[in-house]
Amino acid sequence: MEKQRILGLVGGISKNSINQKLFDFFKGLAEDRMDIVQFDIKTLPFYCQDIEYNPPAEVKSLKDMIKSSDGLLIVTPEYNRSFPGVLKNALDWGSRPSGENSWNRMPAGVIGTSPGAIGTFGAQSQLRQVLNLLNVRTMNQPEFYLSFPKELPDNRLPEPSLAFLRKYVDAFCDWIRSNKS
Ligand SMILES: Cc1cc2nc3c(=O)[nH]c(=O)nc-3n(C[C@H](O)[C@H](O)[C@H](O)COP(=O)(O)O)c2cc1C
Repeated sequence: MEKQRILGLVGGISKNSINQKLFDFFKGLAEDRMDIVQFDIKTLPFYCQDIEYNPPAEVKSLKDMIKSSDGLLIVTPEYNRSFPGVLKNALDWGSRPSGENSWNRMPAGVIGTSPGAIGTFGAQSQLRQVLNLLNVRTMNQPEFYLSFPKELPDNRLPEPSLAFLRKYVDAFCDWIRSNKS
């Protein structure tokens, strides 16, 4: 079966981002079924209405990648019970100019990790609200929240988390296949 093309956005842009690690684990588990290509959101300028009709090349390449992808995977950190501004900036760019919302009808999955006990629940619920407005078809179940382990022996997630991530990947793959435009 043909591999699905997935656009990946990671809301953590630090060198040691735990969400980047989670994205990499996800990509490894899905590689037999999906080509997941990450767009580096830190290359985007701050969104500004003055330049939306003549945006820099990075914005054009984000919008091109959205158009050529079957689905979207967002891996979000939690900042002050919401998702990071740098991620919102990317969503805003993709939604403009008015009437040219590139996210429209795109099937998507949202996951995330933080060191805390609720593992990005606050961030993901706020992110889902924005994705609803953008008319993204976000998968509702299963949800994936991960309290990131302090240590990763052999650079692997502990087996119970890995098993749950595998389940999520399987459901995500089915979701994209049955909802892509
Ligand atoms: C500005 C800021 C706000 C944060 N707020 C939260 C929070 O509300 N909930 C939480 O679980 N962790 C919070 N954290 C901790 C982050 O979850 C932690 O720094 C995590 O490593 C960020 O993800 P990343 O490593 O992928 O960038 C916050 C961190 C920062 C820098």
